[in-house]
Amino acid sequence: MISEKMAAALNDQMNRELYSSYLYLAMAAYYEEKSLKGFAAWMSKQSLEEYEHAMKFYHYIIHVDARVKLTAIDEPQFDWDSIEKPFADALEHEKFITKSINDLADLAVEEKDHATNIFLQWFVNEQVEEVSSVQDIVDKFSLIGDSKNGLFWLDRELGARQ
Ligand code: FEO
Repeated sequence: MISEKMAAALNDQMNRELYSSYLYLAMAAYYEEKSLKGFAAWMSKQSLEEYEHAMKFYHYIIHVDARVKLTAIDEPQFDWDSIEKPFADALEHEKFITKSINDLADLAVEEKDHATNIFLQWFVNEQVEEVSSVQDIVDKFSLIGDSKNGLFWLDRELGARQ
C-alpha cells in the first residue's frame, strides 16, 4: 500500500498525461486543418502514447491497492500562430512533464517508497527520449526556415513515424 500523499501525486500525474494526450490531439487537429498530414499523424501518435502513459499510472495505482480518481481535464489550446509553434510548445510541455516526473521520483525517495520509485524510472527514461525527439524536430524547423520544400520534406518525414 502506498501513502495517500503518493496516491494523490500519482493521480495528478495521470491527469497530466491525459491532458498531454488531449493537447497533442488538439495539435493534430490543427495540422489536419492545414492539410499537413504528416505532422497531424505524428501528433496523433503522440496523443495515443500519452494515453498509454496515463494508463500505466491507472494500472499501477490499482495494482498497489490505491484509489484511481479521475478529475477534469483542462481544455487545450485550439489554435497556433505559426506552423512550427505547436512543436515549440510541445517541447516546453515535455520539459514541464519531465520536471513533474522528477518531482514524483523525489517524493517516492522521500517516502522510502521503493516500488513506486522503480515504477517511475521507466518514465524518467522515457522523458529523456521525449524531450530529445521533440528538440530534434524543433531544430529541423530552424534549419529549414521559410523553405516550402523543407516544410513538405519534414511533413513527409514525420508522417513516417511508427
Ligand atoms: Fe507522457 Fe510526453 O510525457
